[in-house]
Amino acid sequence: MDWDVRNFHGYVTHRGTTYNAYLVQGEKTALVDTVKAPFYETMLRHIEEVMDPGDLDYIVANHAEPDHSGSLVRIAEKAPDAKIISSERGIPVLKKYYGDMELIGIKEMPQVDLGGKTLSFTPVPMAHWPDSMVSYIPEDRLLLSNDAFGQHIASEARFNDEVDQAALWHEATAYYANILMPLSRSVNRAVKALAGVEIDMIAPSHGIIWRKDIGDILAAYSRWVAGESKPRAVIAYDSMWKSTQMMAYAIAEGVGSVGAEARVFNLTGTHRSDVITEILEARAVLVGSPTLNNHVYPTVAGFLAYMRGLKPANKIGAAFGSYGWAGGAKRFVEEQMKLAGVELVENDLEFSYKPSDEEWQRCREFGAMIGEKIKS
Ligand code: FEO
Repeated sequence: MDWDVRNFHGYVTHRGTTYNAYLVQGEKTALVDTVKAPFYETMLRHIEEVMDPGDLDYIVANHAEPDHSGSLVRIAEKAPDAKIISSERGIPVLKKYYGDMELIGIKEMPQVDLGGKTLSFTPVPMAHWPDSMVSYIPEDRLLLSNDAFGQHIASEARFNDEVDQAALWHEATAYYANILMPLSRSVNRAVKALAGVEIDMIAPSHGIIWRKDIGDILAAYSRWVAGESKPRAVIAYDSMWKSTQMMAYAIAEGVGSVGAEARVFNLTGTHRSDVITEILEARAVLVGSPTLNNHVYPTVAGFLAYMRGLKPANKIGAAFGSYGWAGGAKRFVEEQMKLAGVELVENDLEFSYKPSDEEWQRCREFGAMIGEKIKS
């Protein structure tokens, strides 16, 4: 349980997170995944509550990223007879992180019979890293999904029907948007690889376990990998003297005037990862920047760099902003949006100093035009 973490790969984790390791006990016992290194003692204590760690027969590394493998070496020292299993692509990565160790690939050992329980392994490359895989227990119809279907939530509650639903879904959405969105094609392949597998429960390695209405999270993943969106425009901006802010508000008013939804975020007051969460299900992204020293405003530049890496699918968008005596920011924003894969809607919303009444009206009309586009 990591109640304190607030930054995960540059993504703000408002509710902390968990690193979930699972003990699977048949006649033999396997530990599936370990935990981030500072949490080793906690994991060890939990294992010792039910067994002697020295009796572990297998340790499964579904993923080599250190939030799931950081305690591998220490627990392997406690369980010297345990066989360590990972995907073939995980073997060199684990060795690079932790030095030479004996590892068995899943081609050699595609499943493990624990006596009463079976662990069956499926590689899911790039969901999240090339080495990623999932483990499935057919007797319990239980999928140990590692990063997929996770959420960054620290909670003493364990299951999805025990927690606040709005918080759970917000965090599941944020997690997909900020971690898996650029890998949607691979996640889609992983979801397809699991089609036909009977699943009653999904236990990810971050956050809450899905045991009730699991079709809801599977359906959400299907929508997200397909880039489905709502008639919503996210307007992300920053402002020096409130001129770009006036433009953002006018565009939002226009979007709303035709019955579409606008959500406006100031990039000084809102973390870029929270804006990305909003963008996942929005059809339009509009980015406003004042020109500062002939260039983009720094908070907007940071947001654009982040969005460019995450490549939101199936978005239309536009840039806008005010300038003093020379522009420059709008062109830069447009270039970066194009590189992020956003289909640009042309406009001339780049005004000097403070927007005049006529310029304000043009912003509102542009917003209305965007609103009509995203409704259709
Ligand atoms: Fe939760 Fe890709 O590690």
